[in-house]
Amino acid sequence: MVKRAEVSKIVVINGPNLGRLGVREPEIYGSATLEDLRAACTQWGQELGINVEVRQSDSEAEVIGWMHQAVDEKTPVVLNPAAFTHYSYGLADAAAQVTDVHIPLIEVHISNPAGREAFRKHSVISPIATGTITGMGFYGYKLALDAAVHALED
Ligand code: DQA
Repeated sequence: MVKRAEVSKIVVINGPNLGRLGVREPEIYGSATLEDLRAACTQWGQELGINVEVRQSDSEAEVIGWMHQAVDEKTPVVLNPAAFTHYSYGLADAAAQVTDVHIPLIEVHISNPAGREAFRKHSVISPIATGTITGMGFYGYKLALDAAVHALED
């Protein structure tokens, strides 16, 4: 695994429709917004002693580009692939490049997709992720940040 000393930040990448948090299906995703998530992740990063950058995109190409950047810059990734989870082999191939070079990539979902519609039960990302956290709301990102740091070598 990549060493802690080689890492200057963790990138938290959110896929499509997660910019609509707070508006979108609040009964599932809660009333907090992406900005609230950004503030929480920044705070959790400070507690862990690491910079955290939170991004969101509705574009598969942009999210794939961020995976390539994570490989080139040796940046651990917390990834909520949103709907891409269930069908994007392009993103799965890009995410595999991250874990292939021993950079942690933690998959996170706000809801528990396994308990929802049939199409959400399958993730093309989980087989290549370092680990997956589901169903814990925004707190799952805290667990994922913790897990990403924990996965690094001393
Ligand atoms: C999600 C679950 C996905 O099935 C869905 O498409 C999302 C959000 C979650 O965080 O629970 O957009 O990844």
